[in-house]
Amino acid sequence: MLTGKHILLGVTGGIAAYKSALLVREFVRAGAEVQVVMTPSATQFVTPLTFATLSRRDVIIEMFPPSPDQPTSQWTKHIDLGVWADCMIIAPATANTIAKIATGMADNFLTSLVLALRGPLVVAPTMDVDMYTNTATQHNIGVLRSRGVHIVEPEAGELASGLSGPGRLPDTPVLIEAVKNVLKGTAKDLAGRRILVTAGPTQEPIDPVRYLGNRSSGKMGFAVASAAASRGAAVTLIAGPVALATPPGVQRVDVHTAREMADAVSGHFGACDALVMSAAVADFAPASPADSKIKREALGTERFVIECVKNPDILRTAGEMRTHQVLVGFALETDNGLEHARKKRAGKKLDLIVLNDPRVDGAAFGSETNVVTLIGSDDKPEPLPRMPKLDVAHRILDRVLQLLPAAR
Ligand code: C5P
Repeated sequence: MLTGKHILLGVTGGIAAYKSALLVREFVRAGAEVQVVMTPSATQFVTPLTFATLSRRDVIIEMFPPSPDQPTSQWTKHIDLGVWADCMIIAPATANTIAKIATGMADNFLTSLVLALRGPLVVAPTMDVDMYTNTATQHNIGVLRSRGVHIVEPEAGELASGLSGPGRLPDTPVLIEAVKNVLKGTAKDLAGRRILVTAGPTQEPIDPVRYLGNRSSGKMGFAVASAAASRGAAVTLIAGPVALATPPGVQRVDVHTAREMADAVSGHFGACDALVMSAAVADFAPASPADSKIKREALGTERFVIECVKNPDILRTAGEMRTHQVLVGFALETDNGLEHARKKRAGKKLDLIVLNDPRVDGAAFGSETNVVTLIGSDDKPEPLPRMPKLDVAHRILDRVLQLLPAAR
């Protein structure tokens, strides 16, 4: 996948810059052409010679090279490279460079190149914990994400300062995976496929203001929808109540209850090629929700009992209705995960089940990352390392692609 690809590696001034040398090596080993671009402060941490040797290309640092022997015709190089690149990754990306990119500044070669870049951009924020959690940095990362920049979240752990928390540059394979995934986006390998995705929780009304719900943030399902659309699929996303922006190119249907979700799924199921059911559908709903707000005084006794009825199992119904569709379900398990997930996959007639445990570090509700195990019809578990939800989404879609009949 990386053979012959043109990759720009931006290196900014953080202590993790030394790890980027390994990244260059791996890209080159995989057959890619790598052009390294450094900010002037990055050169305080690693010498350009290291990167030039590994990439077999001169490293670019200055917009206006100080040396008089360099030809002045070189000054549009940021434009040329912006067109040349299949993908750019900035790793490590400092708070400073992220802030500049968020505001569209072009005050050095690297930031000018980002503005001129035609292809996708991957950014790996790497810095000390307080700089990373700072509201300004989080805001800027959010701005980049909303523009479609692929953010690879930092790992949590011991930092160079001696403090501990999120801020570490993820390992080389995680960064390579992120680049491969954005390249998949440009390959459009799901073009012509219709993918139905559900996401988020459902809310089952008790009265007009209260509901039974759960903690699902919807991020995993939105990541699947976003990844599928970036790979060229026609995506319908049926979303429970979540505070997330609709990914570009995705048709969104908003629902509240499990019944509404069931109706929306059955309305779209016949026409889809694959259903990825990542919504956390409430298993029960109050049997007779009150028409007006239940008053505290009206309760009378110490106990208030809500009678519930079972909600439809949307995925099971889809499993019974399927004609040609690929079916993917999720299993959120805290004990004996593998055993339960295998049973669930067989019971619901699914092609693939995605097992996760919300108690594992990096897999919590609302988290930007997930740690999952994929289990297909051979029952063999494929455990994946902790990775951004968008990369998990691509792994799920890779499996879906294998299961879909060959494109006509
Ligand atoms: O059985 P369990 O609820 O753990 O199964 C989880 C999977 O089934 C998820 O993919 C979820 O979206 C789906 N589900 C469903 N309808 C329900 C409950 C869960 O489709 N009522």
